[in-house]
Amino acid sequence: MSDTAPKSSAMLIGFPDTASTVEALAGACGISCETIELRRFPDGESYVRNPAALPDHVVIFSSLHGGNDRLVELMLSARTARRAGVKRLSLLAPYLCYMRQDNDFNPGEAVSQTIVGEWFAGLFDDLLTIDPHLHRVGELANAMPVSNTCTLTASGVISDFLATRVPDDALILGPDAESEQWAKQIAAPRSMEYAISLKTRHGDRDVDVDVPEIDITDRDVVLIDDISSTGNTLIQAARQLEGKGARHVYAIVTHALLDEAAMQAMHEAGIEKIWSTDTIPHPTNVVSVEPVLHQALQTLLS
Ligand code: R5P
Repeated sequence: MSDTAPKSSAMLIGFPDTASTVEALAGACGISCETIELRRFPDGESYVRNPAALPDHVVIFSSLHGGNDRLVELMLSARTARRAGVKRLSLLAPYLCYMRQDNDFNPGEAVSQTIVGEWFAGLFDDLLTIDPHLHRVGELANAMPVSNTCTLTASGVISDFLATRVPDDALILGPDAESEQWAKQIAAPRSMEYAISLKTRHGDRDVDVDVPEIDITDRDVVLIDDISSTGNTLIQAARQLEGKGARHVYAIVTHALLDEAAMQAMHEAGIEKIWSTDTIPHPTNVVSVEPVLHQALQTLLS
């Protein structure tokens, strides 16, 4: 076998907008890759065509941000792969959607996390994702009854990035109880101080955040979170820091779903810079999760 021959017979496939990521990842792991053909029918529905020949093990790469179309397209590709005889089907989704509605807070509400989880369980043998929102369920397997679930984290690469931007005495500040795991992991390598706020959500755009009393005079503060969408969680946290003498206030999130208006409002609340990982393509991307994905894929294939 030549040095350039694939090391595993598995294939990584992905949609056209992630072709370069898929190619780089497959190359690093020594497996083959192909792009799933995707286009719109004149009525707006999705046309999906898998590579004609698929091996027994296929890994589909799809970050599930930006609405419902990706879910439908993923389902079409997954079912088509099974019909073509694929025996093991894995999903590598850097961002997993529909994870935040994890309860029926009002009668009749769809618990989308459970429903999407059961849907995935019917499609995939393995599910790998980064920093999924697991507030009330604890483990990914509780939300997604897929045979093999793997929760990855961007905390390590975020920590490495922050080491180039903020000093050791910076405060890592999480907005709510769930963020403690990430705050702790991000702070650990440099033994930085971290703190957790108390969050009360009243509605999609209405949230209260109580930041603990900590002396931040002449210190940098880095607000962290798994997801930032409307930006209001971090805005409320930032507002409480106003006038307390912080040198710089920054925000870094794993999954950035923010639009222009949200980013503007975050800056107006005193957040100087907004940083994110590239689990979702976004203007704030500064941290690559490629090392995290690479390692996870190697383990999956071993
Ligand atoms: C929820 O608890 C998450 O961890 C985030 O804090 C939340 O999704 C952020 O949403 P937004 O930016 O809309 O406040």
